[in-house]
Amino acid sequence: MSLEKVLAHIDDDLENSTDRLMELLRIPSISTDPAYKHDCARAADWLVKALSDLGFQAGTRPTEGHPMVVAHAEGSGPHVLFYGHYDVQPVDPVDLWDNPPFQPRLEKTPGGTVIRARGASDDKGQLMTFLEACRAWRAVNGQLPARVSIFFEGEEESGSPSLVPFMRENAAELKADIALICDTGMFGQNTPAIVTMLRGLLAEEVVITGANKDLHSGMYGGIARNPIHVLSRIIAGLHDETGRVTLPGFYDGVPDLPQQIRHQWQKLSFDSKQFLGDVGLSLPAGEKDRTPLEMIWSRPTCEVNGISGGYEGDGFKTVLPAKARAKISFRLVGTQDPEQIHANFVAYVKSCLPADCGVEFPLGHGAPASQMSTENPAFEAARRALSDEWSQSAAYIGCGGSIPIAGHFKEILDMDALLVGFGHDDDQIHSPNEKYDLESYHKGIRSWARILAGLT
Ligand code: BES
Ligand code: MN
Ligand code: MN
Repeated sequence: MSLEKVLAHIDDDLENSTDRLMELLRIPSISTDPAYKHDCARAADWLVKALSDLGFQAGTRPTEGHPMVVAHAEGSGPHVLFYGHYDVQPVDPVDLWDNPPFQPRLEKTPGGTVIRARGASDDKGQLMTFLEACRAWRAVNGQLPARVSIFFEGEEESGSPSLVPFMRENAAELKADIALICDTGMFGQNTPAIVTMLRGLLAEEVVITGANKDLHSGMYGGIARNPIHVLSRIIAGLHDETGRVTLPGFYDGVPDLPQQIRHQWQKLSFDSKQFLGDVGLSLPAGEKDRTPLEMIWSRPTCEVNGISGGYEGDGFKTVLPAKARAKISFRLVGTQDPEQIHANFVAYVKSCLPADCGVEFPLGHGAPASQMSTENPAFEAARRALSDEWSQSAAYIGCGGSIPIAGHFKEILDMDALLVGFGHDDDQIHSPNEKYDLESYHKGIRSWARILAGLT
């Protein structure tokens, strides 16, 4: 079987590959918003059709939330399970987009051509790199160089409520020799990367309630408790002046950086001035005495992601609000336990609550951090394949974001996860004007074609 021919086919077919991605990008599969439920189902159906055309036995599987997509193709060699997510984040604030988020377009920028749309990088463009690599293998050789199963979910951006039960119920069907995940980035513009360390996540929502209705802040101000003030104190108390999180027990299970990883990271040249400069900042604001890579990859955090209450419209309204709400997330590392931290968080918030105030915790889901062992020979094989494609050796890196399924693959299916992705820091994932470099897409497809060949 000829890899060179497969790569040439990928080059010749890039326009069609891009058109196919554009079709998927036109489906607004926003998983967190019930208004888009039908579109999530449409995205799943679109993938089933695409996989069937590629010779996979493919189907959607209903869940209580959005459907899963599972597919299998026979092939010789090892059995790989490829994972990605077809759901995307909401698009607001929509007026900050330069083009409608679900009308993808190719755009020439100083840095090269980009595919601009919600989901272009997270994760539709990335999951399509793998499908298009399979397409090219089949077109050239009539079959795949490995036995390939596919597993796509449509709830990743909203906490994956159906994922663990589904994996448990379908463990035998999903088990393979290794899991491949394409949902991460490169290290810099031209350095391919394999992520070996992911932070976990605990997401919390707190609603502080006071009076039974919004009040006039002149009539009641001074005598009635203001829930926004209460919430502000709670938030302000979460960090000390050195940037450390103050919750009792928060640092239990936070390890020192393992020597092997410290050495891997020391070799990486990371320009934190540029990293911050690109987003209009200049000074690291987190914990003192940590290297920039530690801050974003291996230290735990607590961040307020949203806050609301009172009057936020144009103009001014002298209101004393009945409620105040914040969404707060913790990034977790090592063996930090999301359930324990949730309990400690709830206890802390309750301990700050004055008389006459109530509190609700409407949301709250978490998953621990995961660390990949790189002993499986697939890691070095993938590293070689990536280095061949990008003419730069591939780096083992950490990732500040969270992909809980990497841990579930290990726990539930006893499978290592190989995380290879082609995103860039400036892809604006979860933000307006998300993009995926056409180069990421093209060389991403070529990379998977090489990795598939290298695994056998
Ligand atoms: N693909 C991202 C994870 C990611 C973020 C990888 C940044 C590389 C760089 C994933 O879709 C994601 O957004 N995960 C969420 C967690 C989820 C439970 C909402 C995250 O990290 O916030
Ligand atoms: Mn993602
Ligand atoms: Mn995401």
